[in-house]
Amino acid sequence: MCKIACLLFLVGLYCTSIKCHQTSKTFQINCYLGAWSMRRPPGYRLNLDEFDTTLCNFITYAFITLTPPGVINADKYRLREEIDPIHRLMALKEKNPDLKIIAAVRAVTTHILENERTRERFITSVAAFLKTHEFDGFDLHWLLAHDDPEIPDAQNSGYEQLLKDLYRELYRIKKFFAVSVSGTAKAAEMYIKAINLGKYTHYINVLSYNFTNDYTMPPHVAPLFENGNNNVNDAMDLWINRVFGQKLNLGVAFLGRKFTLNADKKIAQQGDFMPYNEACKMVHSFPYAEFNATAATSFVRNNEFWLSYESAESLEVKLDFVEQYNLRGVTIWSLENDDYNAECGEKYHLLNYINRKADEKFLKFEGLSCEIKNLKQSVCYQEY
Ligand SMILES: *[C@@H]1O[C@H](CO)[C@@H](O)[C@H](O)[C@H]1NC(C)=O
Ligand SMILES: *[C@@H]1O[C@H](CO)[C@@H](O)[C@H](O)[C@H]1NC(C)=O
Repeated sequence: MCKIACLLFLVGLYCTSIKCHQTSKTFQINCYLGAWSMRRPPGYRLNLDEFDTTLCNFITYAFITLTPPGVINADKYRLREEIDPIHRLMALKEKNPDLKIIAAVRAVTTHILENERTRERFITSVAAFLKTHEFDGFDLHWLLAHDDPEIPDAQNSGYEQLLKDLYRELYRIKKFFAVSVSGTAKAAEMYIKAINLGKYTHYINVLSYNFTNDYTMPPHVAPLFENGNNNVNDAMDLWINRVFGQKLNLGVAFLGRKFTLNADKKIAQQGDFMPYNEACKMVHSFPYAEFNATAATSFVRNNEFWLSYESAESLEVKLDFVEQYNLRGVTIWSLENDDYNAECGEKYHLLNYINRKADEKFLKFEGLSCEIKNLKQSVCYQEY
């Protein structure tokens, strides 16, 4: 349904003005995969065996569990239900040897930060875990509380020393080290004041979504612009001024958020997050989807609810931003939220769209991405 053959004259028209054949550049597409989703029974989870391993060049497995004293819980990773998904994940490298697989940890505890010995113990357990299970790197989530983004003093809390030592050790054993941070402008100011994160990481994932926390209309989950300064642009601007762009991944979430409205069109209820694979079905039940061009974000609405979500259209503007500022790439939250069962059209639609957008052999116009196969034929995808 998505592939339609394009007419030759259309191709000729666009090829004269746009470069047609260019190899795609290096662009990090870092896809999170939720560990919990892999524990669902077969049939209720995405099937890694049939995953096209060229769609992401990094997969980050979230999350690996820690035990209270502040080490990776090695015993847990002797259990079959914990280790099987990791084996299935590593098997993807047989199909694509360039694929990097990263282990993510949700946060570190005060037990870890306490002193040099406790930090060392944590770092040793991380290095051993990565080696044993053949991960290519480590991603530390360092998110701030939503309403009160306070960072404890990075030097006195031991956080800076931890990152410094982790980076040094992972660099030594040839593993990647990334930190993932909250994506608001307010949070960016905090991190930047507290620590020079670019110095201690291979790359930083700026998780710039979840912007609707004051519940005013119109609620946009991850707009590039406007929305007060709750937008991707304002946060990324601060990061770009501080950190080399090639260390920054812009975070996008394959999530929608549905807000119930009351009679006078005000938000009656805090929004429910839903995976894109559910949101897209709701969107398809509307005659048309809307796009707020100044905020650069997609939504549908009726008298009862408002649904804000990420679409090819909103991703396009974000990917232009990544290109314009020569950033490292994008980080996607997360694979199991994409339409992996093709319930709304194309399998892994948003991820495929990102790949088409990053790949210069596709020409984009009027909601289509077209690849010119030869002079007689091109293959086009309808974007939505
Ligand atoms: C986004 O919001 C959800 C729900 O409140 C939360 O679980 C998640 O950690 C948030 N993610 C980020 C990056 O802020
Ligand atoms: C688009 O979103 C912005 C930012 O929230 C809002 O101020 C503006 O009114 C919206 N525009 C339309 C046409 O709805």
